[in-house]
Amino acid sequence: MALTPSPLAYVPFVSVANMMKLVHHVGIETFLLELTDAMEADFRRWESFDKTPRLAAHSEEGVIELMPTSDGEFYGFKYVNGHPKNIKEGLQTVTAFGLLASVGTGYPILLSEMTVLTALRTAAMSALAARHLAPEGAACMAMIGNGAQAEFQALAMKAVCGIDTVRLYDIDRAATDKVLRNLDGLDLNLVACDTAQEAMEGAQIVTTCTADKQFATILTDNMVGAGVHLNAVGGDCPGKTELHRDILMRSDIFVEYPEQTRIEGEIQQLDPDHPVTELWQVITGAKPGRTGPGQVTLFDSVGFAIEDFTALCYVRDRLEGTDLYEKLDLLADPDEPRDLFGMLLRAAP
Ligand SMILES: NC(=O)c1ccc[n+]([C@@H]2O[C@H](COP(=O)([O-])OP(=O)(O)OC[C@H]3O[C@@H](n4cnc5c(N)ncnc54)[C@H](O)[C@@H]3O)[C@@H](O)[C@H]2O)c1
Repeated sequence: MALTPSPLAYVPFVSVANMMKLVHHVGIETFLLELTDAMEADFRRWESFDKTPRLAAHSEEGVIELMPTSDGEFYGFKYVNGHPKNIKEGLQTVTAFGLLASVGTGYPILLSEMTVLTALRTAAMSALAARHLAPEGAACMAMIGNGAQAEFQALAMKAVCGIDTVRLYDIDRAATDKVLRNLDGLDLNLVACDTAQEAMEGAQIVTTCTADKQFATILTDNMVGAGVHLNAVGGDCPGKTELHRDILMRSDIFVEYPEQTRIEGEIQQLDPDHPVTELWQVITGAKPGRTGPGQVTLFDSVGFAIEDFTALCYVRDRLEGTDLYEKLDLLADPDEPRDLFGMLLRAAP
């Protein structure tokens, strides 16, 4: 007797095409704002998550990483790469996909593209940090590095923090021109600049999001004025940093998960016991964030598994009532659980 597989055997799968439809269905800025709020809620319950630095496989060309976490009810992981040389070959620097599973059964409940979702979640994370650390009334941001993540970063700062001006700089003017085209008509004043220094003039929020495998110095200390909030997004691997060490020495530094950031973030340039504050503690009110108008705050972003977990849960919830997924025949589900081999035999042509 052939029984049909249990409904749990078919896993909802969100393709790139459906993810893009979902983002438009929700609205890009609403998506970024809701994702930021969802992340804030999960950061408030930080202690209920399993945490481990991500597992990184480094090569000369780049890195491939696995990022797992669980809150005891659901388990999630993301596969992500970082290959700065890829754009020269017409490929993305960062691509990703991820999975959410039930801890109770171990069965996956969602498989999703995460290249687009990573850009959204990284931007939401920058905006979440800025919501808690940027100077009050910040209206102007500098966006240094105008690659794949750039427009997402700018729009999240607009949607969450209310900025109205973005000053752009990239070593490749074609990247800046692409951002100018893409953000045209989205209610932001856009200013293309010839140097990073020029981009930072008048900016209260400065986001660096460049890609280079070697230690880079995108910003030097003399470029950073008092009271600025820095988001350093591009330095996220051993040997891959963006800020001069002197900037770090004069900043109050906020991180996601110190055990991972000390390996991968800007602070790999500092002593292993250099004081840093975990952002979740600022969000819960356990530790101070910005304490004065002259303070330089630095969010040393590397990307942590809980942010991807939040993003997957958000997508799962937002899919409800839509048909923006396919049912993937991902799990073998014999009629009698121990008869896996019998199921294979019965499939003989
Ligand atoms: N922290 C996180 O959570 C997180 C998440 C995703 C990506 N990232 C990192 O963010 C960075 C950007 O990612 P992407 O997908 O936008 O990469 P991308 O390759 O599409 O864009 C990078 C841009 O940086 C520019 N650039 C390189 N050196 C520069 C310099 N010295 N000054 C100004 N611009 C410079 C390049 O011309 C390019 O346009 C990568 O390093 C990636 O690993 C971090």
